Amino acid sequence: MTRQIATRFSFRSIERLAAPVDPHFQIALEKDQDIEARESLLDRVFGPERFQKTSEKLRVNQAPVSGLALVAKTTSGALLGTIRLWPIFAGQGRAALLLGPLAVCPEAKDGGVGRALMLQALARAKAQGHASILLVGDAAYYNRFGFERRFTDRLLLPGPVDRKRFLGRELIPGALFGAVGAVKPVRRQRFTAIAA
Ligand SMILES: CC(C)(COP(=O)(O)OP(=O)(O)OC[C@H]1O[C@@H](n2cnc3c(N)ncnc32)[C@H](O)[C@@H]1OP(=O)(O)O)[C@@H](O)C(=O)NCCC(=O)NCCS
Repeated sequence: MTRQIATRFSFRSIERLAAPVDPHFQIALEKDQDIEARESLLDRVFGPERFQKTSEKLRVNQAPVSGLALVAKTTSGALLGTIRLWPIFAGQGRAALLLGPLAVCPEAKDGGVGRALMLQALARAKAQGHASILLVGDAAYYNRFGFERRFTDRLLLPGPVDRKRFLGRELIPGALFGAVGAVKPVRRQRFTAIAA
């Protein structure tokens, strides 16, 4: 059963909005019918160049971890935000997650949607037993959730990155201690090979 939380929030920029917005939202597992709205939200927020990002190389042809693709929706079903986490290796043999993209529609910006998505994703990832999470993003935003640059100092992404934006967070203390080497996707074939 999909576990949902209802969260109250207020849009601080509400006076700037052209139309009234629903003051409630829910976090839920992403469903197939959310994909179109999610993709258009990501186009709006990041533009078409989002596919050129180095992080995208770790996501292309991959699937997010089951239970770790979440959406925020108004009570009437409009998509406000999205977050997904992907299986990676943070250096050889060190299973981890890649977080991203996290995006919130501009009309809901600074209303707590990003925070609710992040907190729910962290709680779920921890409950699933994952050890650590990496991401590329604004440290000024992600520091508050415990993401720090020091965890990624010796890790290499498969392309150029502003190292100030390459951050990590341990879910299990010490999980990123000594992490070194290439960050790579966990290839889906690994699972199919095991299942076959
Ligand atoms: C960044 C983003 C995910 C935050 O989600 P949100 O729902 O808008 O924001 P939240 O309600 O969770 O948090 C609001 C707080 O974060 C701060 N904040 C928002 N975006 C920030 C950023 N890029 N850098 C630093 N702080 C930021 C706000 O100033 C506010 O701070 P306060 O609580 O001290 O007043 C969302 O605004 C978004 O998708 N933005 C467009 C993409 C983007 O800018 N990404 C940059 C991060 S990679």
